[in-house]
Amino acid sequence: MSMAATGCLMLLTLTITLTASLIFPLVYGADIESDKQALAALKKSLVDPWNVLSDWDVAVNPCTWNFIECENNRVTSVSIGMNNVGGNLVPELGGLSALVDLSIFNNMIEGTIPAELGNLQNLEVLSLSENLLSGEIPPSLGNLRSLVFVHLDQNEFTGKVSSQIGSLPSLKLANFSGNSLCWDFWPTPNFLGNYTLCQAE
Ligand SMILES: *[C@@H]1O[C@H](CO)[C@@H](O)[C@H](O)[C@H]1NC(C)=O
Ligand SMILES: *[C@@H]1O[C@H](CO)[C@@H](O)[C@H](O)[C@H]1NC(C)=O
Repeated sequence: MSMAATGCLMLLTLTITLTASLIFPLVYGADIESDKQALAALKKSLVDPWNVLSDWDVAVNPCTWNFIECENNRVTSVSIGMNNVGGNLVPELGGLSALVDLSIFNNMIEGTIPAELGNLQNLEVLSLSENLLSGEIPPSLGNLRSLVFVHLDQNEFTGKVSSQIGSLPSLKLANFSGNSLCWDFWPTPNFLGNYTLCQAE
């Protein structure tokens, strides 16, 4: 093969590779790059007085960041406990499609749980205990088919716990203690909390 033909072939291969790497994340929706963007959105929305998120630098792979764990170059765990972190959760967290463990407990997080967390089909542990979260527990959490442990105790949640959450197939423990919730279903012993039935409207 001539030099020109070889060069041409290399260019073609490079073009195909580049095009594929640009298109596949769009087709399949998620990769380590989209994981990184979701975590960057979270960092931007958090208040971090102790600077514990200072190594969350978008110039490097998020698998190297503090509080982050990965498998097969996808983010599987975000675990930030007891670090005085405030601010809000973000809808972008719903794009972390490989996430197994989301634990941001005993901090100062406020606002509501984004309904988009209901997209996390691999999530097994959701721990947001001991924060200042309020509003309703989104019924979309009833879509989390892999969920085993959910700790939402000691927050300021109000309103109705949806029966969708009551029928999750893998659930072993749901701790909703220390909130002002009511229930529209009869909770199984897996549910801890104040079993007040909602008033009929
Ligand atoms: C449930 O939450 C309450 C309030 O935070 C806590 O005291 C209790 O130990 C928790 N129970 C379990 C089994 O996690
Ligand atoms: C249970 O919830 C009801 C309604 O939110 C509230 O009035 C009551 O004080 C709660 N009881 C306990 C023991 O937390």
